[in-house]
Amino acid sequence: MANAELISELVRAHYLGDQRRFGNLLNQVIASESRAGHVRLAQRLRELRIEAEAAQESPARPTQLARAPRDLAHVLSVAYSDVKLSDLVLSPENRRALRRFVTEQRAAETLANHGLRPRRRLLLHGPPGCGKTMAAHALAGELRLPIIRVRLEVVFSRYLGETAATLTDIFAEASRVRGVYLFDEFDALGRTRLDDNDIGEVKRVVTTFLQLLDADDTDSVLVAATNVGATIDRALFRRFDDVLELPGPTPEQAAELLGRLLRQWGTRPDQQTLEATAGLSFADIREAVDDAHKETVLDGRDKPRPGEVREMLLARGARLS
Ligand SMILES: Nc1ncnc2c1ncn2[C@@H]1O[C@H](COP(=O)(O)OP(=O)(O)O)[C@@H](O)[C@H]1O
Ligand SMILES: [Mg+2]
Repeated sequence: MANAELISELVRAHYLGDQRRFGNLLNQVIASESRAGHVRLAQRLRELRIEAEAAQESPARPTQLARAPRDLAHVLSVAYSDVKLSDLVLSPENRRALRRFVTEQRAAETLANHGLRPRRRLLLHGPPGCGKTMAAHALAGELRLPIIRVRLEVVFSRYLGETAATLTDIFAEASRVRGVYLFDEFDALGRTRLDDNDIGEVKRVVTTFLQLLDADDTDSVLVAATNVGATIDRALFRRFDDVLELPGPTPEQAAELLGRLLRQWGTRPDQQTLEATAGLSFADIREAVDDAHKETVLDGRDKPRPGEVREMLLARGARLS
């Protein structure tokens, strides 16, 4: 449960008729409940707020009241992140761009005093396993905001036909609850896997998404991530404040990641181990080291055998080809 002081303040705000304060406190309750893992309660409170606001906005329109707020519980998954930008191995340009993003977000108020808005819409593209999802979590961790993943696969499979309306609801939610909204693998939006009957629907969905991005006026951070940046409609690019490519690791970056991961055993990668990272993603390298770690633990050793990490890297590489 939310703490006693918060609840007392909430009640006080209600009796004083201080709507603004009530809204702020309610946001804190929702945040604290979702942090405590009470996801359903948090979701229910959000829905109640949406219902109440809808009723206030249009008291004379019963249709509005009759329409239950679309249930976003299956579409949004909320989590908290303690990932930091320094956890990512990045090119200097990408690190600078992400730092600037964080700096501007942190200084939102100062910028507002000068009529300026911080960057808040970010498009990340690049091959799988190279840090797109992780970068979104790092932004949330740095900004101490919840990371809210928009489950586009659900939006699409469950509500096709309602997809545009669901997207509209998601953007409305983003303006109520500040967070890092991650549209992961959002190429699902533009993918033409559907038969001819659905093409019109997909176009409508993409158009809606573009309009929502254009009109978006929230304080939330919107991150879209895709593996297929090269084929993505360029019209999308200019809607974002930053478009960053996160490519596969250079040999130096692979060495940096491997170096960090082996530090837990106080060892450094030798030349042959470094060479075994060729063609692997950051995620592959990470998983290979985890494989070696598991064998080590299961064999009751305190560090990997010489050459063990290299073996695991080669095994990962062999799986790819
Ligand atoms: N640039 C990176 N620096 C450090 N670790 C990384 C990086 N990219 C990926 N990883 C590791 O691989 C995992 C999966 O990466 P992820 O961000 O999900 O990739 P993507 O979303 O690009 O497919 C991460 O949780 C992390 O352990
Ligand atoms: Mg990802």
